[in-house]
Formats: sequence, structure tokens, C-alpha cells
Amino acid sequence: MRLSAPSTKLKRLGSCALALGSTALLSGCSWLAMDGHQSTIQVEGPVARNQLNLFFLTCWVTLVIFIIVGSVLAYATFKFRARSKEDEDAKTPEQGHGNPLIEVGLIGASVFALVIIAIPTLKSIWYTNDVPAESRENAYQVTATGYQWWFKFEYPTEQIAGYGPLTTGDELVIPAGRPVHINLRSIDVMHSFWVPKLAGKVDMIPNRANYLWLEADHPGYFWGQCAEYCGESHAVMRFRVIALAPREFEDWLDNQTNPARTVRFPKADAGEQPRAQFAALREFAQNESGSSGAFEVAPLDAWRAQQFVDKGEDPVLIARGKQLFAAKTCISCHTIRGMDAARGVQGPDLTHVGARTTLAGSWLDNTPEQLRRWIHNPEAVKPGNKMWANGYVPNHIQLTPEDEVALVAFLESLK
Ligand code: CUA
Repeated sequence: MRLSAPSTKLKRLGSCALALGSTALLSGCSWLAMDGHQSTIQVEGPVARNQLNLFFLTCWVTLVIFIIVGSVLAYATFKFRARSKEDEDAKTPEQGHGNPLIEVGLIGASVFALVIIAIPTLKSIWYTNDVPAESRENAYQVTATGYQWWFKFEYPTEQIAGYGPLTTGDELVIPAGRPVHINLRSIDVMHSFWVPKLAGKVDMIPNRANYLWLEADHPGYFWGQCAEYCGESHAVMRFRVIALAPREFEDWLDNQTNPARTVRFPKADAGEQPRAQFAALREFAQNESGSSGAFEVAPLDAWRAQQFVDKGEDPVLIARGKQLFAAKTCISCHTIRGMDAARGVQGPDLTHVGARTTLAGSWLDNTPEQLRRWIHNPEAVKPGNKMWANGYVPNHIQLTPEDEVALVAFLESLK
């Protein structure tokens, strides 16, 4: 049965709307997301800005081509459409076989468009490859290493006697307004280092020395992400970049190069009850987001607040947590400088873990509740992780609720 004309028209319009709508949806296109945490449109550093400019230049050139070709196509379709039954039945007109002027013209126009794109592309490749020669001396050096599934950051200019370079995990703190040259390494499989607002992604490849450079325009808190599929918990392999003004950055380095904080036993207020937040153990869904929203509104301020010692801490609980950290074999995979037995290097250095805003590959916010969730059942938070597979399972580690609370108190005290 033939459909009547109006319903065909409606159907066509409907299909068009559906196609456009689903394309926008599938590509994650949303005006709201333009300034999202990992937006490549809202850039905050010269490398990302250079890449964004190149992207838009390419967009404009291709848009012009699209409009020209589209208009010619629309004009021809309209002008030469069949207007009547006679037109439909008419013999096909004689076909032309090439017009040198048009062909040469089109080739010339294409070459011109390509040159317009190629020159800035080459300039951009050179610019983004490494810190510009004039500021290379001033570039700050760090090394980022990908692990399944977290990032380790090392500061080769900050050597600590008996330990090697200053080492952190999950959060890379850099000086703002200064180029940072990042050596990229991988300990296991291929990962990719990506801070969308600061620079494009570069792969971290085992046995290969890669690097990139970036710079933050101003102090800020930036979201990073592993951008190369690297196993079952790839999606939760994240990190943060915290850019600080030079003075604040120096203060941060000073504190970080110190050994872990020791909490003295109290004299007067011994036996204080654990804080309520430590006592609650909510059941989390396996894929529940680790973001509690606590660090979302003003993340840099939240990060700064995280550097301070919590006034309500319980030294007795902390001391018990420290004992457990050794007794439950945590020390074989984690380093805590100043705690002699804790020299493991398989997991993140935890010397100042309490001063970070994120945990577990930056998947969880560093709150007592989330830390407890992480050590309570690591496998539920980050499937396939080494802490579970190489630590908890072979060592038959079991933690009572009291153990968990004590470990959380100890780790959160490491500012
Ligand atoms: Cu590491 Cu994906």
C-alpha cells in the first residue's frame, strides 16, 4: 500500500529528528557538559589552548566546505527535480565526461584548504611536543607512571635520603604559570595520560620513554583520566592535577618531603570516642560513584582544607591503626616514610595520604567514609585491583569494624 504524501513527509521529518537527536546523545553532546570537569572546550593552559585553536580552525575550514558543497547539492537537487510525470519518464540527458576547468579548480581549492590546515597543524605539533626552547630551563620536571589502576607521581628534583625521589599517588601537584615536563612511564600495560583542560593525551607505554608538557594558567584543580583501555578497572583509573601559586607550591613541597606525621599520645583527653563518621558503615553499591560532592563546589579550597590536621582526631585509635598497618601486611606494598618497616613500592606511597582529596585511583573522595569503604572491600570498589588480589586474598586479611575504624583514623592523620 502506498503511503499518502503528508504521512511520508511526517515520517521523514521524524526520522531526521531521531537521527540528529541520537547522534547528539551518542556523542555525549550537551551544552551543559561544555564546561564539565573534563571539557576540552574550556581550556586553562597554553598547550590545550593551542590544540583547541587548531580544532576550531579545522572546524571552520570544513564548515565552509560543507556549506559550499551542501548548497551546490541542494541547488542542483531543487533545480533539476522532476516536476511532472513527463519529467519522470524523460530520457536521461546526455552525460558530460569531465570539465578541465572545474576539475583543476576543485583540486586547487582542496590543496588550498589543506594548506590552510596543514601549516598551523605542523606548528602545533612542534609547539605541543616539548616545552618551547626559551623556557625549557625553567620547566619543572615530574615523572608519571601508570599502574593498573592508578597513577604514581615522582619529583626527581626532590630527593629524599634513603628513599629516592619524592613520590605521591593519584594527585599531581604542580606550580601554576610554569611549564611542566612530564616523563610518562608504565609499569605494566599501556595507559594514557590525559588532563583535558591542560593538554591532549599521550600514551604511557611499557619500556618506552614518552613525555608531554603542560602548563596551568592559574592555580586550579583539574580532572585527569587514563585514556587508553588498560583492563577491567580502566574507567576508574583517574587522577587530579592541582596547580598552586609558586609560594604555595614550595610550602607544599616542604611538607611533602617531611616524613609522615607522628601523633603523640594525649595527656588529658585520652579515650575520646571515635567520631560518628568513623563509626557508620554504609553499604555501597558496587558501581556507586565515589564522588560525595564534598569536593565538587570549590575543589581547590577543599584540597587546601585537606592539608590541615583534623582537630577531632583520636591518638589512641591512630596508634592502634598504625600497629594494624604493619600487622595486616599493608607495609609490604606501601611506603610510609618515617615508619621503618613500611617500604613497599607496589602500591601508592601513603606518607601524606591524608592530605589528598582522592583515593583508589582518584575514584573515591578521600573522606573517612569512602576510605573505610575502600579498605572494607577493595574488590567491590575497583574490580581486579592488586591490593585485593595480591594482598587481602593470599594473606587472608580480615578486618573487624574496629580494625577498619582504626586504620582509617591512622591513614587520615597522615597530612
Ligand atoms: Cu590505565 Cu586505562
